Amino acid sequence: MVAKRVGILTAGGDAPGLNAVIRGFGKTAITHYGMELIGFRDGITGLVENRYIDLDASSLSGILTRGGTFLGTSRDKVNKYMVNGESKNMVPTVKENLEKLGINALVMLGGGGTAKNAKQLMDAGVNVILLPKTIDNDIWGTDTSFGFATAMEIATEAIDRLHSTAHSHHRIILAEIMGHRAGWLSLGAGIAGGADIILIPEIPYTVESVTATIKSRIARGSTFSVIAVAEGARDTTDTADTEAANLLVKTASTPEAVRAAKTHLANVEDSQREHTFKLARELEAATGLETRVSILGYVQRGGTPSAEDRLLATRLGSATADHVAAGEFGILCAARGQDTEPVPLEEVAGKSKLVPTDHHWIETARKIGTGLGD
Ligand code: F6P
Repeated sequence: MVAKRVGILTAGGDAPGLNAVIRGFGKTAITHYGMELIGFRDGITGLVENRYIDLDASSLSGILTRGGTFLGTSRDKVNKYMVNGESKNMVPTVKENLEKLGINALVMLGGGGTAKNAKQLMDAGVNVILLPKTIDNDIWGTDTSFGFATAMEIATEAIDRLHSTAHSHHRIILAEIMGHRAGWLSLGAGIAGGADIILIPEIPYTVESVTATIKSRIARGSTFSVIAVAEGARDTTDTADTEAANLLVKTASTPEAVRAAKTHLANVEDSQREHTFKLARELEAATGLETRVSILGYVQRGGTPSAEDRLLATRLGSATADHVAAGEFGILCAARGQDTEPVPLEEVAGKSKLVPTDHHWIETARKIGTGLGD
């Protein structure tokens, strides 16, 4: 079945390259295959509320270099959609909306959360293709995701710039880097930026180990240190507390016990949100060096995509149009080396790609003397 009318949407956190993917897909679908393209506003919300715009070749002009997503995005869940404070399954509504519009294929640009939405819709019979979007690079089944390369450039430049103030003031500077529960962005930017220590969620750290690395630098005459801290990095104590709270959720036997365990887990995770500032205080006390924190935050998601992300986005978008034309659905159009590869959504949804502790990037960091907090 060759899809004639295709819907496209962007969901989850924004990332550089989203518009480049829409352009790569749209140009191939419209110009090469003669398809019609409809863009849904604000991710799942627009799909549920039937808010969309018709897209043609002129819609795609000038968007390659634009940051964010011109369609808008949201983090709504299609099967747990909040309506007046109540959670509702809107999959049937979405199916009906798509059928009424004559749309017979839906392309979703998103990350882990969107993979779950895509699977829900696929299981309901919607022809879905997912494209891997996130600065975190934590999507299972794909070598990388668009947004990651640009965010790594941004975080690396920030680390470069933080070196200036660190050595000028003989300070420890902690740069907190995004990545959700994965350490890819901190590890990559930390190596590229020459961070002296890199702390990632996959390797729980001890203040003692971080202090020892700083003190060995001082002994060698380097009276400053720059530390790349993943927003999900935690010390061994906090890690153990979170693991215990997660176990309570897993083993809770009644709905009330599950609710109580989930509330406890949320409180534990909330109490750890300021972990970078807590580490800064501990390091200042342990080393005697002034310590400062820079939270890189949303600048890592903003602005024009890098050339690497534009190329990746265009390749993935165009390959997705080929899959639509061939009637191949229920897949992630994954990046694989210099090419792309369709991966069944069943293998992707509900999983995260974390940094393996024996990954060659970790071995490289260790061999060049970077402290990893363990
Ligand atoms: O998934 C991308 C990301 O930027 C994560 O790195 C970060 O933890 C999260 O989104 C922030 O979510 P929000 O945009 O909802 O604040």
